[in-house]
Amino acid sequence: MNRKALQKLSYGVYLVTTAQNGKSYGCVANSAMQITSSPAQIAVSINHDNATHDQIAQSGKFALSILATDTDPALIGGFGYRSSRDADKFAGVPSAEHDGMPVPDAAMAWITCRVVKIMTAGTHTIFLGEVTDCELNRADGIPMTYLYYHTVIKGNSPKNAPTYVPPEEK
Ligand SMILES: Cc1cc2nc3c(=O)[nH]c(=O)nc-3n(C[C@H](O)[C@H](O)[C@H](O)COP(=O)(O)O)c2cc1C
Repeated sequence: MNRKALQKLSYGVYLVTTAQNGKSYGCVANSAMQITSSPAQIAVSINHDNATHDQIAQSGKFALSILATDTDPALIGGFGYRSSRDADKFAGVPSAEHDGMPVPDAAMAWITCRVVKIMTAGTHTIFLGEVTDCELNRADGIPMTYLYYHTVIKGNSPKNAPTYVPPEEK
């Protein structure tokens, strides 16, 4: 098995956010995809150890922020390399509220979902959400791909990303 083949899969770079008891949570995720068109459904794969995981499970909803190529890399670092257990990730991040969930203004588009199915998949949980609302924050901008994140921004993926590649496989 040549695991390098797995690295040829394509993704985007997103924020998955939610809110619970008046507190905001969220993390970076590349693992988001549209599963059906009618009704529109989106799946995300979230590591059990992420604070965002339990909060989505409890709130039963999540918002997906689609990031553009000109997104400040500090936003990705702030949401992808820290936990809400240790930091208020939304401090200093201008955000709007949609269906009670925080969506950073930097998102080029956002989608809110209500969780309709939960599937445990080893280290991760797949949350399937039915789209409850979605909108563009701006008409221009190019959605950031995972490839762009790695090759142009020179970003990495931490252990909790489903696409994490251990150093010995690089
Ligand atoms: C580019 C990138 C992609 C990521 N993709 C995922 C993902 O799809 N699923 C996941 O569970 N974590 C993913 N992560 C890791 C989480 O964002 C990270 O563990 C975060 O610190 C969790 O924060 P939390 O504890 O506040 O939820 C990714 C991180 C980066 C930087």
